[in-house]
Amino acid sequence: MSTLLSIDVSRLLSALSMSLDFTTKGLTNHHRRVAYIALSLGKTMQLSPEKMHTLFCASTLHDIGAITFADKHTLASMEINSPEIHCEKGYQFLNKVPQFSDLALIIRYHHHQFQKPEPPIDKDLLQLSYLIHLADRLEILLTPAYILSQRSSALERICSLFGTYFPPEYKEPLLEIASKDSFWLDLDSIYLDKLIEDMLYSEMHMEVAPKEIREIASLFATIIDSKSRFTHRHSRLVSTTATKLATLAGFSSCDAVKIEVAGLLHDLGKLSISEAILEKNGSLSPEEYDLIKQHTYHTYHILNHIPGFSDIAEWAAYHHERLDGRGYPFCIDKTSLSTGSRIVAVADIFSALAEDRPYRLGMKKEKITEILFSSVKNNSLDKDLTYLLLERYHDFEELKSKLC
Ligand SMILES: [Fe+2]
Ligand SMILES: [Fe+2]
Ligand SMILES: [Fe+2]
Repeated sequence: MSTLLSIDVSRLLSALSMSLDFTTKGLTNHHRRVAYIALSLGKTMQLSPEKMHTLFCASTLHDIGAITFADKHTLASMEINSPEIHCEKGYQFLNKVPQFSDLALIIRYHHHQFQKPEPPIDKDLLQLSYLIHLADRLEILLTPAYILSQRSSALERICSLFGTYFPPEYKEPLLEIASKDSFWLDLDSIYLDKLIEDMLYSEMHMEVAPKEIREIASLFATIIDSKSRFTHRHSRLVSTTATKLATLAGFSSCDAVKIEVAGLLHDLGKLSISEAILEKNGSLSPEEYDLIKQHTYHTYHILNHIPGFSDIAEWAAYHHERLDGRGYPFCIDKTSLSTGSRIVAVADIFSALAEDRPYRLGMKKEKITEILFSSVKNNSLDKDLTYLLLERYHDFEELKSKLC
């Protein structure tokens, strides 16, 4: 097992932001496209590499405060009622990560209109808020129709808002980037990731250390868990349970940190599922169950996009696989399930059984023990790791009570 190294923060945020782009219409590219428009404007305005980096990080997370599908739906129209709600929520989330205090402020004002009194924020940061606002409003005007046939109407609408929504001096840079067909084709292309990389990564690298990776993972855990009141601390419970189990199983401190991150992000793909299904009080239809089952597929692919995260991607995403190969969605068996993946699977089942669900209350020790035993017997869970948890049951129960 490799150690968890420092990772380029833009690559980390770029991958994680994919989880923010699930809506009822599937995976949109909203955050990436807004980032590309904002960076194109920034490049034309000759922003410094540091500012371009901050602009990328803020634009790639800008709607982090819009969690439910309903929240996201309201942001997709040109006139938004109370946009400050998701701006404020995004600010609160990001402000918990010490190194993200500037991003938090930029996002707090990313719907601020130029015609209104200036907010109490540094001018350099406000400039980035305005760029994100402009990029965001342009992006939501674009429909799935052929992109070049939309540019005139989109541009006309945006241009009518300079001086009211947006600072007038941003009109020229917009017209300059919009004059090239390639700008519009880029927005709709499968090469978008590479184009963003070229514009950004060649300019500046900013690494985050394991401690910050944990903080960022914890931020996303809060977002995942806020999708449903029944899972308000599930990711945290899986993470602390898995970390304790990993330590008991002899993992190094580096690998224990990776398990902690894997636990925090194991249900990242749940952001692809509507709240109506997650909170359903009753049995799921086969189609709804298929939708639930897709979550680990997305967890794997989003995390595997991050350089240095291959172990974390596996440990996080294989928690519904079984030793006999009858799990989902990859149907891998004991020959491919590493100890890390097995630990997160045991921690996930223990946590799920101990927590309340829409259709039942959290289970007591006797019932949990019975279910864990039968999961070992039917070749679903790892025997040694399950017994390790049961032997120290009191310790794990205590961890859970501390999270309440
Ligand atoms: Fe927004
Ligand atoms: Fe947006
Ligand atoms: Fe799960």
